[in-house]
Formats: sequence, structure tokens, C-alpha cells
Amino acid sequence: MNSEILFRPFSLKSLNLKNRVVMAPMTRSFSPNGVPTEDVANYYGKRAKGEVGLILSEGTVIERVSSSNDQNVPHFYGEKALAGWQNVINKVHDAGGAMGPQIWHMGVMDNHHSGWVPAAPFEGPSGLNRPGFNNGNTMTDADIADTIAAFGRAAADAKRLGFETVEIHGAHGYLIDQFFWDATNLRTDIYGGKTLAERTRFAVEVIKEIRRQVGDDFALIIRLSQFKPSAYTNKLAKTPQEMEAWLNPLADAGIDIFHCSQRRFWEPEFEGSDLNFAGWAKKLTGKATITVGSIGLTGEFMAAFAGESSQPSSLDELVRRMDRGDFDLVAVGRPLLADPFWVQKIHEQRTSELKGFSVEALSQLV
Ligand SMILES: Cc1cc2nc3c(=O)[nH]c(=O)nc-3n(C[C@H](O)[C@H](O)[C@H](O)COP(=O)(O)O)c2cc1C
Repeated sequence: MNSEILFRPFSLKSLNLKNRVVMAPMTRSFSPNGVPTEDVANYYGKRAKGEVGLILSEGTVIERVSSSNDQNVPHFYGEKALAGWQNVINKVHDAGGAMGPQIWHMGVMDNHHSGWVPAAPFEGPSGLNRPGFNNGNTMTDADIADTIAAFGRAAADAKRLGFETVEIHGAHGYLIDQFFWDATNLRTDIYGGKTLAERTRFAVEVIKEIRRQVGDDFALIIRLSQFKPSAYTNKLAKTPQEMEAWLNPLADAGIDIFHCSQRRFWEPEFEGSDLNFAGWAKKLTGKATITVGSIGLTGEFMAAFAGESSQPSSLDELVRRMDRGDFDLVAVGRPLLADPFWVQKIHEQRTSELKGFSVEALSQLV
């Protein structure tokens, strides 16, 4: 396997990356009361040392009372949490890395198994997490305006602390995705609508506010998925035309890079072409894209949560698609969760040292 293409530099606005490998955002829940600890900073610092081109943080929540269902998920607001993030980015920079926080509002959630609940009910476009499961409030205009402002503040703070980019979490059935999905957005006001294009309104306003806060030269990423954990086969956009009507308003509002989440990167998005989600997003918007999903592993991540182990696998298909120009960057999750030096091992062709992934890796930060 010739993985040289993964090690070409990449530049876009505030991003100057030494290679094309991105650490995918992965929730670890090791930040008590929302404050990233020294262990968290060391965890990210090690990935920078291990030659990851761009680190995306675990989802870190914005300043809304019910933006999280987990007491140990980091906040991206408040003096203590932001001091924790300052420590994180300093360690990453000391090791020669680049990083962006993934800013997140979970929207309407299941209650966490720990029993912890936020001080206000969960909130979303229509109180729904999925069809038939209402576990929160329908957001008012004032809630929406305050949430948009909170996203903007988080992005401004990320830039002020020295992060190179910000990723907006618009995927996987959380708040922004709850607005996209007709099954969870039943609104009849300007934030609802029959078409996916109409339901991009909330995301567009979030992006515009962030862009207003960070200026034109700061690279802005949004993560999107067609699937939800509650609906693997869901397609928000059922045709390339619908995908174009979904993504172009986001690009026009200020997105530079689409991070296209799939469980398996090789799966075609639409019939009649082998292009995956990132391939279509690049083709339809002309923007840079990131692909992700079971790169270098035999099994996918949702099955991993249920206990399925994965073994290392070839990167040939990834390289073939990248060579063809389908996407610009590739995000790797579980391999980098388990092994800070995965990228270095690929670079130095030390393939016999690559590890698989099993669920036990989640129990500690290595
Ligand atoms: C432990 C764990 C936590 C995750 N947390 C997040 C998250 O906070 N935000 C997000 O967008 N995706 C999250 N994901 C999904 C990953 O970013 C990635 O898309 C997925 O693991 C597929 O990549 P992989 O096959 O290389 O692991 C998580 C995945 C894992 C394994």
C-alpha cells in the first residue's frame, strides 16, 4: 500500500496541516463537571505528538442549561472549562499539532444512564429525539436566538484561545440534525418546512453567527450525517438534487469544509455511482470534504459500542478514492482512540504494530 497521499500538506484559511489525517471527534466523558482535566490535555497532546494532522475534539457543549445529558462531557463555556481547553490547545501546539473543538448542543436526548439530568428539560425543534419519543421542550424563538448566540460565543472563544478551526456538530441526531430531520422537526414556523432546504434555516443562522464572530479567514467545518443512531438507513437527502439543496445553503452561509459522517466510508451514497457522501458533497458544493468511517478497521463504530471487536484492515480503497480526488481529508476515530501513534505507524509503514479496537479501550484515556 502506498499511503503517501495521506502525508501531503493541506492549507485552507487558518488551517496549515502537515498531513491529511484528522482525529475524528470522540466523546470520552472524562471532564468532571464539564472541565477538561490535565489527563484530557495529555491525551490530545499525545495525538499531536503522534503526527495527527488535525485533531477534532470530542463534542464539547455550548452555553445552554440543557445542552448536555452527561455531567462529564466537557463544556466550551465558563472560566474553568475554557482554562482547561487553553491547557489542551497549548499542549497540542507544543507538540506541533493543530486542533479545533467540536461544538455541540445535544438537543432532545435520552436520560443518561448515570441518572444525572440537566437543571432544565432537554430542548429541540419539537421536543422529539426520534419518532414517538418526546423527552423535552419545543424551543421558543427566544430559545433559538439564545442558542445561536451561544454557538457564536463558543466559536469566538475557540479562536481567542488559539484553536485553528471549529467544527459545528450537525450530525448523528443531535440538535442541529433534529432541525434537519422531518421526523423530529414538526414546526410550522420559519425553522420548519416540508423540504430539507427549508429545514436548514436553523443551521444557516448558526453558521452565519459563527462566521460573524470569527471573521472570513477562520476555517469553519460542519459535521453532517444522513444516518442517526436511531435510524441507520435514514437518508435526509434521498437524491443528489436534495443533497445540493441541503448543502449549498450551508456553504453560502460560511462553511469551508464538510465533514461527511458515514459508518463505512466505502458505501456509495446514491445508486448509479460509487461516490460516497464526502465525494458527493465535494462534487455538489466545490468545498473541501472529510471522509470517515471504518478507515483501517474491519468493523464499524456503532457495533463497537455493542461489543464487537475490529481488526486492522487495508487502506487501499481509501487511497484509491483519495487519488481520484473524492475528498481532501480523512478522519480516523477508534484507531486513534486506542493508539496515539497510529498515524506515525502508517507513515513509517510499521503495519505489523497496528492494533485492532475493542470496547475496553473506552474505559481509559491512553
Ligand atoms: C467513543 C466514541 C465517541 C464518539 N463521539 C462522537 C462525538 O462526540 N461527536 C461526533 O461527531 N462523533 C462521535 N463519534 C463518531 C466518530 O467521530 C466517528 O465518526 C466514528 O467512530 C467512525 O469512525 P471510526 O470508524 O474511525 O471509528 C464517536 C465515536 C466513538 C467510537
